[in-house]
This record gives sequence, structure tokens and C-alpha cells, in this order.
Amino acid sequence: MYEVKSNEMLAPNLHKIVVTAPRVAAVRKAGQFAIVRVEKGGERIPLTIGDADPLAGTITLFVQAVGATTRKLVAIPVGGHVRDIAGPLGVPTHIENWGRVACVGGGVGTAVLYPMAKALADAGNEVTTIIGGRSKPVIILADELSAFSQQTLITTEDGSLGRKGFVTAVLEDLLKDSKSSPMSVFAVGPVPMMRAVAELTRPYQVKTIVSLNPIMIDGTGMCGGCRVLIGGEVRFACVDGPEFDGHLVDFNNLADRLTTYREHECRIALKEKESREAA
Ligand code: NAD
Ligand code: FES
Repeated sequence: MYEVKSNEMLAPNLHKIVVTAPRVAAVRKAGQFAIVRVEKGGERIPLTIGDADPLAGTITLFVQAVGATTRKLVAIPVGGHVRDIAGPLGVPTHIENWGRVACVGGGVGTAVLYPMAKALADAGNEVTTIIGGRSKPVIILADELSAFSQQTLITTEDGSLGRKGFVTAVLEDLLKDSKSSPMSVFAVGPVPMMRAVAELTRPYQVKTIVSLNPIMIDGTGMCGGCRVLIGGEVRFACVDGPEFDGHLVDFNNLADRLTTYREHECRIALKEKESREAA
């Protein structure tokens, strides 16, 4: 059992949860994730390890409450417990000093971007962070990212904070200017955003790393659920990723696979709503 030390709502339906997990905290690296089970026999959910404090023996998880299990997880109060945490899993972010890098986060993907950007800054890179969302309330971690970024540029689709529009407009400006153009780009967010970032950087031949979020079950390369196509070859995001060269990712395949269970999820959500209303 893993004790919840803090549980804070960062944005509607998005929580930052600090949990005691000393063995994970001691060895985890940026880019890795854990598989979490809220209760015995419950659903296994993959969550990026957003941060860790090896001395306190804690890890930070960013949890978006989108389904029954994630809603149960965000509802655990301080002092409550999570049943299982398996990790760290996945290949850590490849970190080196490229000089100037751009880190691009779309919506909830910003939480996954955070540990990558921090590790890149710690390695001496000059980090420009671009984060975007639909409107001001869903912009997260701006202060935390600004603490180590050379500059943090914000976009919102409705113009309620920062520049109006998509994160890609800001990235395009950076790429066009040789004085600001990054040597590498790291992007995490919805599939259309990562695809757009990869298409933007391709003509500039700027290395572009994306973090993929296919459906995961075991997280250990056994079930095949997280199969993705990279350069025409099958890879498993849980053991070969989750980060890959964005110029090689088959985003159409990823988008198709992510919708596999949508109908089933809608049916479950409807049932849950009905039972909540009946209660
Ligand atoms: P969203 O749809 O609100 O988009 C957030 C921002 O991303 C937008 O404001 C915009 O700046 C950018 N963006 C979106 N579509 C774009 C496009 N076509 N071109 C250029 N920029 C674009 O994001 P959200 O609702 O917070 O995110 C939810 C999605 O993110 C879910 O599908 C979820 O699965 C995915 N997600 C991915 C990861 C990951 O590891 N890759 C992590 C968390 C969430
Ligand atoms: Fe099962 Fe990756 S989650 S193979």
C-alpha cells in the first residue's frame, strides 16, 4: 500500500498527487512511468512519474480524471492509500546537451513534458517552453516550468492567456528565426498536436521527440496493447518508448488504435452516470 501525502487539483479534473513509493523514487528517471492500481483486482493505469524526491521517498503523479478508475484515484484523500504502484517502467528520456531545445506541451500533455524539460535544463540546455490549452483554467505548471526555462510561452485557443491560437504557431516562429531555432524539439500532447509539431520541424530537419500514449495494459511488453508503428516497424511503447522520433511515428495508426475502445468506454460512462443519478 502506498500512502497519499498530498492531493491538489491543478485544473478541472487534473490532480497532482504525491505518493510514498521509496523504491520507485530512488531509481526513477525522466520520461518513465508507473502502472497504478487503486484497489485489489482493479484496472491498471499507466501514469507518468512527474517528479520524485528520493530523500522523502515520494513520487508525483499527474492524474486526469477521465474514467471510473482515475476518478477513484483523484478522490483518495491525504492519508489514504493506493493499492499497487509498479515501476519505474519505460525507457528514460535520452538527455544530452544540445544547446537550445524547445519543449512543447499541449493540454494535459504538459504534465508529461514537465520531467523531460526539467532533465533537459539540468543537463545544461537552454530550454524554451511552449505550453497551450483551450483556455486559461487548463494551463498547468507554468510557474514550475518557468523556474528552469529560459522563456515560457503560453497559448490559449480563446486568447484568455498568452497568445491566441495553437502552440505550433509559436514553435513556427522559433524555427523561422535562426537566432532562436532549437536544435531539438520535445513535444507531448494530443495526437494531432504531436503530428503537427513533427510536420512543422521535418523541413527544418530538427530532431523531434514525442511521447506516445497508446492503450497500455501490463506495461511490460507482454500484451501487445501498446503496439505502435515507428518507421514502419512494430514497437511497444511500454518497453521501447514511450518516447520516439516524431518523424518516424505513424500517427494515423496511433489515432486509430486509441479509438478502439471508445464505444465500450462510452457505454461504461453512461452506465456510471445512470447509477450515480439513481443513487
Ligand atoms: P487539447 O485538445 O485541449 O489541446 C491542447 C493544445 O494542444 C491546444 O490548445 C493546442 O495548442 C495544441 N493542439 C491541439 N491540437 C492541435 C493541432 N491539430 N495542431 C496544433 N496544435 C494542436 O488537449 P487536452 O484535451 O488537454 O488533451 C487531451 C489529449 O491529450 C487526450 O487525447 C490525451 O490522450 C492526450 N494526452 C497525451 C499524452 C501523451 O503522453 N502524449 C499525455 C496526456 C494526454
Ligand atoms: Fe502490454 Fe505494452 S502495455 S505490451
